[in-house]
Amino acid sequence: MHPGSLTIPIRVFPVSDVGAAADDRGVTNAARRSLIPGRRATDWTAGPVGDGAGCRIIDLPRVTDPRGNLTFVEGKAEVPFDIKRVYYLYDVPGGESRGGHAHRGLQQLIVAAAGSFDVVVGDGTTTARFHLNRSYYGLYLPPFTWRELGNFSSGSVCLVLASQVYSEDDYFRDYDEFLSARHEAEVAGIAPLPATAR
Ligand code: TYD
Repeated sequence: MHPGSLTIPIRVFPVSDVGAAADDRGVTNAARRSLIPGRRATDWTAGPVGDGAGCRIIDLPRVTDPRGNLTFVEGKAEVPFDIKRVYYLYDVPGGESRGGHAHRGLQQLIVAAAGSFDVVVGDGTTTARFHLNRSYYGLYLPPFTWRELGNFSSGSVCLVLASQVYSEDDYFRDYDEFLSARHEAEVAGIAPLPATAR
């Protein structure tokens, strides 16, 4: 973990409250969710709510059912990339943190499949903290994003959908190396991703 990245001022997004935001018709995400079992209530045109440091919350489809709710993710639909890999973090001991790196090309969607945890993201200039505690919210991370995960609740599961298979060559594990590469990518117009690609 880079010693400076968690100590700079951050914007906090209470993800559990994002459903309260209304669109231009005054309809909230919470109101879009049907209470009728099995009825898909997601408004597919609804924009994501909550962003920071180039990352944003994606409100995933939710099929409610008294037998248990269901959320699904399809590549190029709910997420703006083909899904090439899935991995998950679990059995994280209390007080431990994960991450502490960035990627050159990898795009990811992070979901609290169980429990809760914080994801602190940084684009080299701004930093934001997202508290993930619902299985139907995904945090989208574009390339060239430094991330650290911590504050895992007991029994939590961090599910990650990724745009590429694992490659150590895609990692920045040194924060200063990430900063200079991010700067070079911005000069070259590679980062941040254009809004249409997000
Ligand atoms: P890593 O992504 O470095 O996680 P963290 O930054 O939290 O330590 O992954 C930890 C180890 O797991 C690393 O040595 C590589 C291995 N790994 C894979 O083999 N495949 C994968 O898809 C991932 C994500 C990690």
